[in-house]
Amino acid sequence: MEKVLTGAATIAYERRGRGFPLVLIHGFPLDHSIWDEVASLLENDFDLILPDLRGFGESDAPSAAWTMNDLVADLAALLDHLGIESAFLAGHSMGGYLALAFATAYPARVRGLALVSSQAAADAPERKTGRYAQALQIAEEGIGATVAAMTEKFSADERVRKFVHDLMRKQKPAGYIGSLKAMAGRADTMTALEDTSFPILLVHGDADALIPIERAREIQAAIPRARLIVLKGGGHMPMMESPREVGEAFENFL
Ligand code: MLT
Repeated sequence: MEKVLTGAATIAYERRGRGFPLVLIHGFPLDHSIWDEVASLLENDFDLILPDLRGFGESDAPSAAWTMNDLVADLAALLDHLGIESAFLAGHSMGGYLALAFATAYPARVRGLALVSSQAAADAPERKTGRYAQALQIAEEGIGATVAAMTEKFSADERVRKFVHDLMRKQKPAGYIGSLKAMAGRADTMTALEDTSFPILLVHGDADALIPIERAREIQAAIPRARLIVLKGGGHMPMMESPREVGEAFENFL
């Protein structure tokens, strides 16, 4: 992977394909490789940028805390480094939180936004508390319990579950801890999203056990131009469970 120093962290990224820039942003606690199948389908039509977010994959996992806005700064620095003024953004789950925060900070740099298994709502107070407790548990005991608890919630598909399990086990505790705190502290982005004008695509499985499809329906209800594609029986990993549908949705929409 290529690397860029964004100021506070070294961010690794893959760049492939040709066309208009499309940034594929992974969720928690994963890395860019979740997009591999979709990237193969899209590389003839898009200039694909696949970062490993701060804390994951080959990017730095600093021990100092970071916020969603720090991830926004990482992404802005990466796009600056690549000479990309504006791009399509597709964010999976936590990657969607980042895409939304980026779109709030830099609406003119976003040509279209796809949220895959994500939400615009901030954490409810008990969810925040749970995240801090989970971060503490990881600091004291490691990632084992989190990996065990999350694995089966990702997907009913055995192949996807195994891939995600192995990928989660490779990530550093500091990546989990930093991201849990960044997610807990993130702002609600619904109001800011209502004020934007770029196209919005929502892709969500109706059997997602981590972020219920109601969160996508709420965005659709608040923002009439948002288009929702529901994957019947789909879990939290549409880009791996249904790569062809996701690739086609991006091609038709973005
Ligand atoms: C993710 O898949 O990125 C996370 O489950 C999102 C979250 O915990 O809110």
